[in-house]
Amino acid sequence: MKVITVKNYHEISIKAAQLVADQITNKKNSVLGLATGQTPIGMYQELINMFKRGEIDFSDVITFNLDEYYGLSPAHPQSYHYFMWDTFFQYINIKKENIHLLNGVTENIDGECQHYEYLIQKNGGIDLQILGIGDNGHLGFNEPAIGLHSKTHLVNLSEETIRANSQYFNNIQEVPKQALTMGIGTIIKAQKIILLASGRKKSHVIERTINGPVSTEVPATVLQLHNNVTVLIDEEAATKI
Ligand code: F6R
Repeated sequence: MKVITVKNYHEISIKAAQLVADQITNKKNSVLGLATGQTPIGMYQELINMFKRGEIDFSDVITFNLDEYYGLSPAHPQSYHYFMWDTFFQYINIKKENIHLLNGVTENIDGECQHYEYLIQKNGGIDLQILGIGDNGHLGFNEPAIGLHSKTHLVNLSEETIRANSQYFNNIQEVPKQALTMGIGTIIKAQKIILLASGRKKSHVIERTINGPVSTEVPATVLQLHNNVTVLIDEEAATKI
């Protein structure tokens, strides 16, 4: 894994946006895997700035988001569907038909997951996957002890994740207990992966991800098995490596 340590969150956002822009410059119709959460917000903001300055064109870009809460409709303000439009998609020239998000209110879970995998394949696979990391090492919503080869599927969220994400809801009872997520097997099929982490809170899990034994107990450690991973972190997240 290539580890890039920059000064602070702002520099992570600038560098990550530059790497995404390079990918799109090299291949106009790149397939991007996208994450939600706090960490990539600055990167999305910087990509919007680049778009406004005419430095980047999303018209042929195709996206697949990592995950979605099960039970939340796209219109729900805490759904990842809503987050992506609110934070990013509405500000750029991406085509609506090129955006893919899992349907959190599907009545056919298996069909939805299989169709998502089919669409990723049909579009040639993911060229560049952006990831955040949970405090417990989760990638997407692949919680500890997940299958290494898992594809897109329904998961039960861990207590830790439900607690961490309750900050965005009125109370912890409102946090969905399940989610749809690309599997670890789906994620590691991406050609290139960039993992973003910022702040001292992530330093322990970053240390385990980089130096620890590969174990499904810390799902992010499987990235050690991939040949093109960049871990982009700030000085605080790097304090334990
Ligand atoms: C979100 C996702 C999650 C987050 C992770 C870190 O789509 O897949 O794995 O990346 O929970 O979240 P933040 O960035 O809020 O610390």
